[in-house]
Amino acid sequence: MASAGVASVGVASAASGGVTAGGRRRRVARAVAGLGVSVAAAGAVTLAYGALYERSAYTLRRVSIPVLPAGSRPLRVLHMSDLHVTARQRDKLAWLSELARLVPDLVVLTGDVLSAEDARGPLLAALEPLYSFPGVFVPGNNDYFVPTLTSPHRYLRRSDEAEPTGAPLDWAGLAKDLAAASGWTELTNTRAVLAAGGCRIDVRGVDDARLRRDRPDLVAGPPEPGTQLALGLSHTPEPRVLDAFTADGVGLILSGHTHGGQIRLPGIGALVSNCGLDRSRVRGLSRHVTAAAASWLHVSPGLGTSPFAPVRLGCRPEATLLCLTAVPA
Ligand SMILES: [Fe+2]
Repeated sequence: MASAGVASVGVASAASGGVTAGGRRRRVARAVAGLGVSVAAAGAVTLAYGALYERSAYTLRRVSIPVLPAGSRPLRVLHMSDLHVTARQRDKLAWLSELARLVPDLVVLTGDVLSAEDARGPLLAALEPLYSFPGVFVPGNNDYFVPTLTSPHRYLRRSDEAEPTGAPLDWAGLAKDLAAASGWTELTNTRAVLAAGGCRIDVRGVDDARLRRDRPDLVAGPPEPGTQLALGLSHTPEPRVLDAFTADGVGLILSGHTHGGQIRLPGIGALVSNCGLDRSRVRGLSRHVTAAAASWLHVSPGLGTSPFAPVRLGCRPEATLLCLTAVPA
């Protein structure tokens, strides 16, 4: 009787819960599968947003930097970087043409200009309205080689090695055509003095540091006497270049390369800087401080992506209008 009673209780208990142990496992499995599908669907929607909308949501940002001598009038610098233009990107090319409406005192282009040779003509035509203004430019690592597919693992691990594998791009030809069309000055491991917006500017630049073509020693030295601003350009914001510029008294350094992280997560920000710079400074304005001096650093998140990673999340493509102002008296 006792054993029959136990059996009876057991059956009654299972019936009252409505589910056997096997049934519970199946429900849990279905819930986990459903959650997986939901996460995958949310990921797909997020990636679609980044690829179809945010990647081409071109944005102008304005930043004020107190870097000019006291009493100076403001200087408007249009900073563009990492265009990664292909000939079919007509919306990007049209947006670039519109930037001339800002009437900048100086245009700065910090590399990674083209992703394909056949984009040279369309790009030069798109930039034509900006040729009314003085300009300077340097190459980026992607100006020397056609982009190739990079594994996510290789992208996510920090790497200093230069491992270009794509076919060569004709940077020298582009630089020559751009300089001839615009009158802008190429600053590849060289320096100059130019006038812009009533200001005499010591401008200096290096070849790409990611590819280890940078030669800060060739542009070293204090700012030219009589200049009101020393401006340094380096596509990749490698700390060794930033340190060298800062030690020489460069007040403002402009860079790109990082794409601002390109994919930024809430509460985390950029996952990688893709160079030696710390992740907290991969986008926007910061101070670069050494033991002996300090400078301003502006890292543009750029306007493009690699053709093999056509997505941006939490990091819209951007050109920046830098308003350089006088330091407080
Ligand atoms: Fe780039």
